[in-house]
Amino acid sequence: MRHRERPRTFRVKSFGCQMNVYDGERMAELLAAEGITPAAEGEEAELVVLNTCHIRERAAEKVYSDIGRLLKTDGPAPMIAVAGCVAQAQGEEIMARAPGVGVVVGPQAYHRLPELIAEATQGRRATDTDMPAAAKFAALPRRRRSAPAAFLTVQEGCDKFCTYCVVPYTRGAEISRPFADLLEEAQLLVEGGAREITLLGQNVNAWTGEDASGRLVGLDGLIRRLARIDGLARIRYTTSHPNDVTEGLIAAHGEVPQLMPYLHLPVQSGSDRVLKAMNRSHTAESYLALIERFRAARPDIAVSGDFIVGFPGESEADFAATLSIVRETAYAHAFSFKYSPRPGTPAATLGDQIAAEVMDERLQRLQAAIGETQLAFNRASVGRRCTVLVERRGKKPGQWLGKSPWLQSVFFTGEASVGDLVEVELAQAGPNSLEGRVLERVAA
Ligand code: 5AD
Ligand code: SF4
Repeated sequence: MRHRERPRTFRVKSFGCQMNVYDGERMAELLAAEGITPAAEGEEAELVVLNTCHIRERAAEKVYSDIGRLLKTDGPAPMIAVAGCVAQAQGEEIMARAPGVGVVVGPQAYHRLPELIAEATQGRRATDTDMPAAAKFAALPRRRRSAPAAFLTVQEGCDKFCTYCVVPYTRGAEISRPFADLLEEAQLLVEGGAREITLLGQNVNAWTGEDASGRLVGLDGLIRRLARIDGLARIRYTTSHPNDVTEGLIAAHGEVPQLMPYLHLPVQSGSDRVLKAMNRSHTAESYLALIERFRAARPDIAVSGDFIVGFPGESEADFAATLSIVRETAYAHAFSFKYSPRPGTPAATLGDQIAAEVMDERLQRLQAAIGETQLAFNRASVGRRCTVLVERRGKKPGQWLGKSPWLQSVFFTGEASVGDLVEVELAQAGPNSLEGRVLERVAA
């Protein structure tokens, strides 16, 4: 497809994880710095960036249906750039299967988006799926504005090679961004309006760097330094792997007031047999023991997790072990997925793949069990007060939406504005959110 003119407006559509949200924001900033402006609400953009996710088959297939929809237009077709993990894993296939796509750009190459767009404008469809160790960050424009709750990628890639997972292939080997760069970006985010920063990494616990005095520090060292930034009220991090959690990080939960009482620690299954086949290198018992250590440091910590049902060979007894780890951990929140065989991963070629109906039924039972622990966690907050970071207006008149320290969504009424920290009295709880009213604004 030939686009004679450089696009003037853009839209970035991000799918999947929070790191994609972060990458989507950086791409938007990059395009804006090039003089391409965000398309207005409801307006068709001249450039659409599909920032894709490859983690499960359904997520990956979405890219083709989206491309089809974008090209089925009465007006001129937009230039389409496919970014993200599907671009990385299937760049050539996309170019072959979707002639309407002008640009394919992987997660480590999106700083080159302007050049690739220029090539596509000349009629040369352009691909860059190279994986240099995070050269992109230095090439991106400085950050200016940010939401009250901002993301900051500190680490990328994963060396764990869980047998079901595409991430080590799409995002590559583990790399840590330098301490000084992160400090600078965090400072800019706070100056741009962020009150909370979530540090992102596929295996965020693997982050290491040298602090200002040349000392090698881990994630807890970074958190302790960020906590000294004036105006940064909250720090979070995700996603953790049980094997890379350090004593220092656990201790930080008891010592750093800005570090929020929330831990996303995927377990995937409660069965040691399945965990072994997944190459998780932890057991149900070692996982539970780790949670206990976090709870000893910070008794009110909210624990969240990820689960996969229907991993090849999963028996009813294996699945029962997953249900019991849900109850034992008493999750405040959790994501659960049906196993999806991913091309190129070891588990995809295992025998004994589980039938779709069995997976459906197990997923329903798992989600019911998680729903119960979530509701119990939320109900325990009713009648209490907590600080809420105001993120946006709610749907109802006079209503606001923000997050509690435990990352619960809180809908509330009363005097507030976006970016405020307010003290809210929690009056009602559902499985996914709480309701309350403002008591007072909290000084930062
Ligand atoms: N099938 C289903 N779920 C998966 N996840 C990762 N790979 C797969 C897969 N092949 C889930 C895991 C991981 C989360 C981000 O996605 O639970 O923690
Ligand atoms: Fe994937 Fe496992 Fe790495 Fe998580 S730890 S990104 S599930 S390989």
